[in-house]
Amino acid sequence: MIITSKSTFQTRSLGKDFSTILKKRDIVLLEGQLGGGKTTFVKGLAKGLGYKGEVLSPSYTLVRRYKINKIVINHIDLYRLDKKSLSSIDMEEYLYNENSISIVEWGQKLKPYLDKYLIIKFSFLNMEKRKLVISQKGHNKNKLKNL
Ligand SMILES: Nc1ncnc2c1ncn2[C@@H]1O[C@H](COP(=O)(O)OP(=O)(O)OP(=O)(O)O)[C@@H](O)[C@H]1O
Ligand SMILES: [Mg+2]
Repeated sequence: MIITSKSTFQTRSLGKDFSTILKKRDIVLLEGQLGGGKTTFVKGLAKGLGYKGEVLSPSYTLVRRYKINKIVINHIDLYRLDKKSLSSIDMEEYLYNENSISIVEWGQKLKPYLDKYLIIKFSFLNMEKRKLVISQKGHNKNKLKNL
């Protein structure tokens, strides 16, 4: 599925819409250049899941966790991690926790380790426009049907 976003606001709104298809244990990988709109998308997504606080980029902290009722959103950024350090991430803790939904910026780095994920690739069309390509691996094909 390909969607064009014409503004920061629209990318947030697309994140909010996308949140409606998410279930506990889902893993969403976000791929695309610096400034592509990944964190912007997560702001809308977290809002859609009911998070009222501020979502900040996890670029420096690696992980930020947002608690909403019984769900935890793991917002992860792998930009600074090389392949070797990837194995030091506690996948069990962050990705396979039964009450969590994980959103991973620079998440394409995890593809080889996962058999089930949603993935969104962001690319620049111009200063204000972004192309979002949404796909999945290992889920029922209907998962993206209601977007
Ligand atoms: N259509 C758009 N969608 C998303 N962001 C946009 C758009 N147009 C302009 N922008 C701007 O681009 C920047 C996107 O930054 P954001 O932090 O979301 O990117 P990122 O992909 O998370 O980058 P990084 O890899 O550094 O974490 C913001 O300053 C935002 O206002
Ligand atoms: Mg970011």
